[in-house]
Amino acid sequence: MDEVLALQRAEELPSDYRERLDTLGVLPAWTLLRAVMPVGAAAPKAMAHQWSYAQLRPLLMRAAELVPMEKAERRVLGYINPGLARERLSTLPSIFFGLQLIMPGERAPNHKHIPAAARIIIEGEGAFTTVDGEKLHMEEGDVVLTPPLHWHDHGHEGKEPVVWMDVLDHPLAVPMDVSYVLPGKLAESYNEQPDAADTLYSCPGLVPYRAPGAQAPLYPMRRFRWQRVRKALLATSDVTAREVPVHLRYCNPENGESIMKTLEFSARIVRPGESVTLKRASVNRMFQIMDGDARIKVNDLEYACQKHDTVSAPTYSSVSLHNASSTSPCFMIQVDDTPTQVKLGFYEEVA
Ligand SMILES: [Fe+2]
Repeated sequence: MDEVLALQRAEELPSDYRERLDTLGVLPAWTLLRAVMPVGAAAPKAMAHQWSYAQLRPLLMRAAELVPMEKAERRVLGYINPGLARERLSTLPSIFFGLQLIMPGERAPNHKHIPAAARIIIEGEGAFTTVDGEKLHMEEGDVVLTPPLHWHDHGHEGKEPVVWMDVLDHPLAVPMDVSYVLPGKLAESYNEQPDAADTLYSCPGLVPYRAPGAQAPLYPMRRFRWQRVRKALLATSDVTAREVPVHLRYCNPENGESIMKTLEFSARIVRPGESVTLKRASVNRMFQIMDGDARIKVNDLEYACQKHDTVSAPTYSSVSLHNASSTSPCFMIQVDDTPTQVKLGFYEEVA
């Protein structure tokens, strides 16, 4: 590496000079240059971390006693990265994960907001999300999308608590000062037709016919069923060489783009005994264990995971995924900020 300059610190400047600069709304940028651009490599503040669903579940259930829905709007326990300031409400610098609970008969009010959201259903039956009046049933493992500025609410017609993992990109929107929410009115009735995954987009490879130049909707599918994803992973696994990882991405069926503009969702099966080493890259990654006996290694830390546990892997981490079972497959959903980084020109892979 070329010579690294030892830059002047702010304290080396006369205090009257600094104060005058401050009064005029400027500061000597060279004194903070190394903080915003560390020499040689990024210095992630976010940390690798594991969140245990078994430990958190009782506290989430207690929240149903402690806070009524009308006092929470959404009853969510946010997963806070220990390396990031709490007020950022961030699991990684670009990603928020949080467990949401809805009890039988409850309604979470209608609203819309700038940040995009998706839910990964963790447990329970009978809940639904409506997006612009389309009623999307939520079954375990499903990914349900509520795109930016689309009206949505949640309801629960079942008998047991329903839990899902909220995934939002507000950590990107908040520093840009564009994040807000608008309250809406609960609809009296919903479109009870089957959702688009069962109609327009029920056949892989087929999309609605359009005249040349006609625009497809930006978010044509809002529900991605886990049972189909799981089946596809198993089928792909059957025809994939042992040394090739099985990894499928969720996409917009109209254009192949990521289902969120900012975040990539993908699903993995890790076969019994298999270890998968990921490319070291600039991306922030989250892993949500759907089933199985996963061991996730992030740099020097190894996390033994149970079903529904969650692990964060910050930028430039060395990550490997291992299935500790010799008989059962392991399934996980990965969420990362690749689309954002590619669009911004930040994405890189490193050795
Ligand atoms: Fe929302």
